[in-house]
Amino acid sequence: MQPTITPLDATIGATITDIDLANLDADTWNIVEDAFHEYAALVFPAQNLTDEAQVAFANRFGDIEILRGNPADKAVQISNQKPDGSVLQPDEHRFKALRGNEGWHTDSSYMPLAAKASILSAQVVPSAGGETAVADMRAAYDDLDQGMKDRIEGLSAYHSLYQSQAKIGHIVKTGAGYGYHDKGAPLRRLVNTHPATGRKSLFIGRHAYSIPGMEDGEAQELLDELLDFACQPPRTYFHDWRPGDVFMWDNRCALHAARPYDYSETRIMRHTRIAGEPESELAATGRDQRAAGFQPSTSNR
Ligand code: OGA
Ligand code: MN
Repeated sequence: MQPTITPLDATIGATITDIDLANLDADTWNIVEDAFHEYAALVFPAQNLTDEAQVAFANRFGDIEILRGNPADKAVQISNQKPDGSVLQPDEHRFKALRGNEGWHTDSSYMPLAAKASILSAQVVPSAGGETAVADMRAAYDDLDQGMKDRIEGLSAYHSLYQSQAKIGHIVKTGAGYGYHDKGAPLRRLVNTHPATGRKSLFIGRHAYSIPGMEDGEAQELLDELLDFACQPPRTYFHDWRPGDVFMWDNRCALHAARPYDYSETRIMRHTRIAGEPESELAATGRDQRAAGFQPSTSNR
């Protein structure tokens, strides 16, 4: 069976059909990996993967990032359903974490090792809304005017989950784990060079907040302006889920966001996150970088 690749109606993304992700031969895997590099986001409708099959597919791309501290949790539920079957309420920690996903972001940019790719599969979807959107940061970079390209070329921003959640009224713990903050947060170039394709892209999103050498208000204005510009058609795609669908994106050159829905309904997704590669996705924390006289290179290091 030869897979069929159909580009989406956007600068990013393709749908791949006539494929079984649970049973990929070497040739088919090569087709998938090439398409991942070309399109940066891939939709695989109606795969109905088991946890194990999703993790095995993710592992073809690289190591799995362990999200909740338990090495057994290579596939985690992104869900508003509690163990007793009821849904999370607005004042609950997990609810606020989920709402955070509704801002455009790239996964784990606030960690020393940013993520390479993320794979979501839909288990239970609400009757309306709850889409997942992606935005093409390669096309966004290409479409900037030359003045802006020149302005941002040498700039880097600190990325912090503490900061991005605080903005929506959710205070998370700081310190090691997911709470790197202040000048201890990872510092990443605004212009990223993709390690596989060599294409430049904007590396921004809600976790980016402060730019060395720039006053914080001015930095925020610049980051907001870039984000507003970047996440517009034809650079965006909104995936309207059906249970069983698999959707993945390249965190190095795409932003993504969850879309709101009626939170009294249940939405259960399964997430597997592929770790970045130290050669291209490792940012020492700001403190370490300063101590080492660190100079950011062209690809997020
Ligand atoms: C994530 C995420 C979006 C969604 O799992 O990292 O951003 O639509 N999810 O649930
Ligand atoms: Mn995410």
